[in-house]
Amino acid sequence: MHPQIIPALAGVVISVFAACNGSNGSSGSTAGATASTDGKTIYQKTCVACHNSDGMGAPGMYPPLAKSDFLLADKYRAIRQLLKGSSTPVTVNGTSYTGMMPPQPLSDEEAAQVLNYVYHAWGNNGFTLNAADIKAVRDTLK
Ligand code: HEC
Repeated sequence: MHPQIIPALAGVVISVFAACNGSNGSSGSTAGATASTDGKTIYQKTCVACHNSDGMGAPGMYPPLAKSDFLLADKYRAIRQLLKGSSTPVTVNGTSYTGMMPPQPLSDEEAAQVLNYVYHAWGNNGFTLNAADIKAVRDTLK
C-alpha cells in the first residue's frame, strides 16, 4: 500500500464520525457538541435547574439523583427517562414524585456522558455507559 494513503483514509474516517455525531444532536444549544464535551458540563447546562448541583433535586418536586435507588437500579430505565421524559409517578428513596420531566434533547454520546457523570457523582457507584447503550434504547423507542 502507498504510505500516503493511510493518513488520507484516517481523515475520511474521522470526518464521517464527526458528521454522524453532529447529526445526532437535536435542536438548541446542545447541537454540534462534540465527543469532548464532558458529562459535568452537560449536567450543569441541562439537568441542574431541576436536580440541583448537589444532585439532591428539590423536596416534593424533583427527585434526587444522588444515592437514588431508582437511578442505580436499572440503567435502561434511566436512559429511557432521559430520552423520553416521564410523567409517570416515581418513588425515589421512599418518596413519591409526581412531576413531569421533559425529554432531554441529547445525542447518544452526550446522554452517555451525562449519565456517566450522574452515575459517579455525589458518592454514587453506578453503571458506565457508552453511546451504543443509548442508541440501543433509543431504537426501542421509535
Ligand atoms: C424540568 C425539570 C427537569 C430537568 C431539566 C431534568 N429532570 Fe430529571 N426528573 C424531573 C422530574 C420531575 C422527575 C420525576 C419524573 C417522573 O415522575 O417520572 C425526574 C426524574 C429523573 C430520573 C429518575 C428518578 C431518579 O431520581 O432517579 C432521572 C435518572 C433523571 N430525572 C435524570 C435527569 C438528568 C440526567 C437530566 C439532565 C440531562 C434531567 N433529569 C433533567 C425533572 C427534570
